[in-house]
Amino acid sequence: MPQFYTTQNALLHAQTIIAVSVHVLPISIALSALLIFLLLRELFAPPHLRTFSQRKQYHLPPGPSGYPIIGSLLQWRHARRSAPALTKYLSTLSTHGEMTTLHLGSRTQILLNSPRSVSEIISKRGKITHERPPMPIASDLISRGKRVVLLPTTQWMEGRRVMQHLAKTSAIKTYTEMQEFESTLMLASYLFRPAEWYLHHYRYSNSVMHRIVLGDGLVKRTEELIELQRVTIQFLKMIGESSIEFFPLVTKIPALLQPWRRGMEKIGREHRDVFETWWRPVKRMIEKGTAPPSFVRDALLHANFKYRGDDEQAMYLALSAISAGSDNTRMILNTFIMAALCNPEAMQKARDEADAICGGKAERLPLISDIDAMPYTCALVKEVLRWRPIVPVVPPHQLTQDLEFEGYHFPKGTEFLINSIPVCNAVDKP
Ligand code: HEM
Repeated sequence: MPQFYTTQNALLHAQTIIAVSVHVLPISIALSALLIFLLLRELFAPPHLRTFSQRKQYHLPPGPSGYPIIGSLLQWRHARRSAPALTKYLSTLSTHGEMTTLHLGSRTQILLNSPRSVSEIISKRGKITHERPPMPIASDLISRGKRVVLLPTTQWMEGRRVMQHLAKTSAIKTYTEMQEFESTLMLASYLFRPAEWYLHHYRYSNSVMHRIVLGDGLVKRTEELIELQRVTIQFLKMIGESSIEFFPLVTKIPALLQPWRRGMEKIGREHRDVFETWWRPVKRMIEKGTAPPSFVRDALLHANFKYRGDDEQAMYLALSAISAGSDNTRMILNTFIMAALCNPEAMQKARDEADAICGGKAERLPLISDIDAMPYTCALVKEVLRWRPIVPVVPPHQLTQDLEFEGYHFPKGTEFLINSIPVCNAVDKP
């Protein structure tokens, strides 16, 4: 007799399926979630800490445990929202000791919290800690792989070779004269337009760098200065800003599947365009033979130096030096004013020292050649740099081979960050 599949049978069958599903579905969802979690953990773990035996082999300094896969990325991102939050977070991390391990996505970073640990790891072991880790966003996309400060060793060596010209003794003497001239202009600007005191700082520092790198004084509109400053600040902010930076593997998938890419590339093109407005006029003058003496004319593009980079790399090298040299100096001059307002007695002592050299009625300005006779002023400048470090976290350095150090075992690929605020505050523990 053929079995008829009646409505009743069908209902019974369906009920059985639902009853089984109600029990099995959550289990399969849980299993799939666990599988995905394990897969992601495996994929995004730092390459050198993937297996259990690797994790056992290496021994890192203490630090916050963070969450699986992302580590302390949420706290890191939250702290970066404001300077006070970052200061607080970095100070809290430094309570773990001279070194703190921070897991951020696929990257293992060690914060160096004391002058001693910086000296041991970055200075004495520079041979194996000079490398930069890959930075797919800040370096590859925003900087088009051309800002020397973020490049891996093999790529920065040529730029550094040429940049050494900037540190030649004969060149430094010329720079001294430029600085004295520009600082006199800056003092005059304080008097004529006191409300814009902070703008004068940027014009001063940029002007000195412009003279050194591109030649002659600065003939730029305020908007052009603001634009270059905007580009510099945006670039600095992008170092360690994007979460993608902490999962470099994600950038290996086809470009079409990386929705963030277009926006970042656009920023990179905008930065290059701003650099070009500074670079082209000088390049044209050099080609015509009318350019004034400068680092670009006499070193970077000079036949004797045989610079092996292309035109765009040369442009980035020159403009990076201008950006680095002018923005940090601007910030520290602003900090100096803050220090002067907070510590009028200390400033009066420095003023007395200058008066003793220049005559009570300020018959002349102090010169760089007076520096040896101004120990208090020199100490004051160093104290301002220490008091409020303008680079709170120095861009990461990467270890090129395994390192055993004071009971710790760091795997190749570990990154080291100088945690400037605790380092600068450790005055009693050199
Ligand atoms: C208060 C003043 C300054 C501070 C605090 C400062 C700080 C720094 C820091 C922390 C770095 C990164 C170092 C590292 O990765 O280990 C750096 C790199 C650099 N700075 Fe300065 N800087 C200052 C002034 C200047 C000036 C005046 C110039 C130009 C003459 C300059 C040119 C550069 C360049 C070219 C780099 C990149 C070097 C490279 O990696 O090839 N800086 N600076």
